[in-house]
Amino acid sequence: MTMTADLLVLGAGIAGCSAALHAADLGASVVLVAKDELGGSNTSWAQGGIIGLAPPEEGDSPDLLAADIEAAGAGLCRQEAVRLLAEEGPRLCRSFLWERLGVPFDLGRNDTPDAIAEAAHSAKRIYHAKDATGLAIQTALSQAVRSHPNIRVRERLCLVDLITSPHHCLSPVRVYDPIRVHGAFLYDPATGQVEGALARRTLLATGGLGYLYLHTTNPPSATGDGLAAAYRASARIVNCEYLQFHPTALYAPGKPRTLLTEALRGEGAWLVNRKGERFMAKYAPEHLELAPRDVVSRAIFQEMAASGDASVYLDLAPVAAKLDLESHFPTVVAACRAEGLDPLRQPIPVVPAAHYFCGGVLVDLDGRTSLPGLFAAGEVACTGLHGANRLASTSLLEGLVWGLRGAEAAVAELPGASLPEARDMAQWQMPEAAEETDPLLIDQDWGLIRSTLWNYAGIIRTGDRLHRAKADIQYLAHRIDRFYHEAPLSRGLLELRSGILCAQLILKAALQNPESRGCHYRVD
Ligand code: SIN
Repeated sequence: MTMTADLLVLGAGIAGCSAALHAADLGASVVLVAKDELGGSNTSWAQGGIIGLAPPEEGDSPDLLAADIEAAGAGLCRQEAVRLLAEEGPRLCRSFLWERLGVPFDLGRNDTPDAIAEAAHSAKRIYHAKDATGLAIQTALSQAVRSHPNIRVRERLCLVDLITSPHHCLSPVRVYDPIRVHGAFLYDPATGQVEGALARRTLLATGGLGYLYLHTTNPPSATGDGLAAAYRASARIVNCEYLQFHPTALYAPGKPRTLLTEALRGEGAWLVNRKGERFMAKYAPEHLELAPRDVVSRAIFQEMAASGDASVYLDLAPVAAKLDLESHFPTVVAACRAEGLDPLRQPIPVVPAAHYFCGGVLVDLDGRTSLPGLFAAGEVACTGLHGANRLASTSLLEGLVWGLRGAEAAVAELPGASLPEARDMAQWQMPEAAEETDPLLIDQDWGLIRSTLWNYAGIIRTGDRLHRAKADIQYLAHRIDRFYHEAPLSRGLLELRSGILCAQLILKAALQNPESRGCHYRVD
């Protein structure tokens, strides 16, 4: 074992960095692990915004915010989680992100953050930094964790497994102990070695799993590593059928999808078909383009199915008519131009894409999982806040609130928490791999997972499709398991192992739940 810490934080987006900072401020020694370079998390990709404090004339209140979150969650929200976020979140957004870290939110009157409107929010309460809010938050967090004397940042390490007792204990009599998490095994692609990190408490903040789907707004690193590791360690996992699709990702054949923020429709952008006809009136006559995300995503999916077209289009002309597109949405404009598209002159091709995983490792209001020693926060965790569907701009705030609370609760447990002796724990045993891994095999397996989930466990589901997907994925899982045990370890192989397990968790949950609710939509 090469590293020890009071708190090991796995994942360095908003949840992981906030947790690391708070625990370090409270005097704990923290190791913060990032899968890529610091700053490469999904948080950096979030465009829209984060719920902050509405200006007084908006008449906003925790009750109003809670009602909006519950309406989106389709009757499945955990009320205590909603109350907690609605009461504590907006204040923390302002005090922690703006006042303490100096996140450069766009400013409005009185030089305080400008709170704007967003679909399905009853008040102007969204803080933003143009259309790159996540990047602004991540940059400030990365700087703060790098300069904190109690935090050791370790970049480019991949989670292999959580270290648990009794599983990784050398003494056979420990078999009678309850399961407890003591840290993690981490693979370093630069050395090809696996390091053990022992910690008195571990906090999982590894993000989501959008890369399991053919079209996604997430980075390729969103492969469900934390969810898979927690499942293997026997943590309770819930709500895996609720995977939210974002209606508008830029469609450029052969290229990864880029989010085109919901704020564009908030500012008046229209959805049109190839002939330039608006179609949302057919599907949501009352709210049109501002209907809930699942409704808009299904409408687009159905339009594409009926026309046979590979995309529909987002017409930004109504936005450009009232504000300067380039200064308000520089990320969007640059993404379109990179594909040779001019959003000032032509409708932009869009498709729905997997965006946010509403399920995850079940946690309480302090981020405690069902496994002693393990906390979780952010997209990998299920706090119950989102229920069956997530209200826009809640995810960064949830990561912040549960990151801070998880750190606080973990540090409070430290006085009674001992660090296991390295000599009592098993080292990672590298398999004796016969030959190098052919990267084509990994790509091919990912292709199968991603198209199977997109087609059979996507926006519109049926029992037949889900059964077919389950059988195909089960066969592939068997192949990948052999592959994992026979090939030399690599980041690609570890991610594939996570992805195939998460695919099975999604399919199992989707098959077990015959009821259409929120973003789990079955037509049978
Ligand atoms: C968006 O900007 O449309 C995404 C915001 C979110 O998913 O919360």
